Amino acid sequence: MFVATDLSKSTQAELYQQLAAQLRALTDNETDPVANMANCAALIFNSVPRLNWAGFYLLKGGELVLGPFQGQPACVRIAIGRGICGTAAESHSVLRVADVTKFPGHIACDSASRSEIVLPLLTEDSHLIGVLDVDSPELDRFDAEDEAGLSAIAGIMARKI
Ligand code: SME
Repeated sequence: MFVATDLSKSTQAELYQQLAAQLRALTDNETDPVANMANCAALIFNSVPRLNWAGFYLLKGGELVLGPFQGQPACVRIAIGRGICGTAAESHSVLRVADVTKFPGHIACDSASRSEIVLPLLTEDSHLIGVLDVDSPELDRFDAEDEAGLSAIAGIMARKI
């Protein structure tokens, strides 16, 4: 049985270090990508405060297709270049959006989302696998520490999918 460490009193940096350690422990001996993404989404959603959605979109047939996630049901297919996920996928860069209503073409899957961070999942030779998408009901929820912590998690996951 997985016993979650209580991360509620950790600093953000500690929280993400412990999250990365928990993710490694959960995925080290498992090669199934769906199982690993499902556990990763559950870890993020239950450990990082003030989120309403956390999960994966995977590049399939030239578009992003919904993968394992936690939160409300979401849009299934997103074209590359569309919305925050499609733009992060196209540019291979992390997008941290403080107010999703101000992002041109934002796709409102869950009307509760106010801010969002999307991290591309790239192979070692820079091919796109998909994106990790994390949403919050708070404006400007994600700072540079969240970006660093979630980038480390995206890096671990890019080798497990
Ligand atoms: N808002 C995203 C779509 C995915 S959902 O937030 C789960 C976007 O604009 O790409």
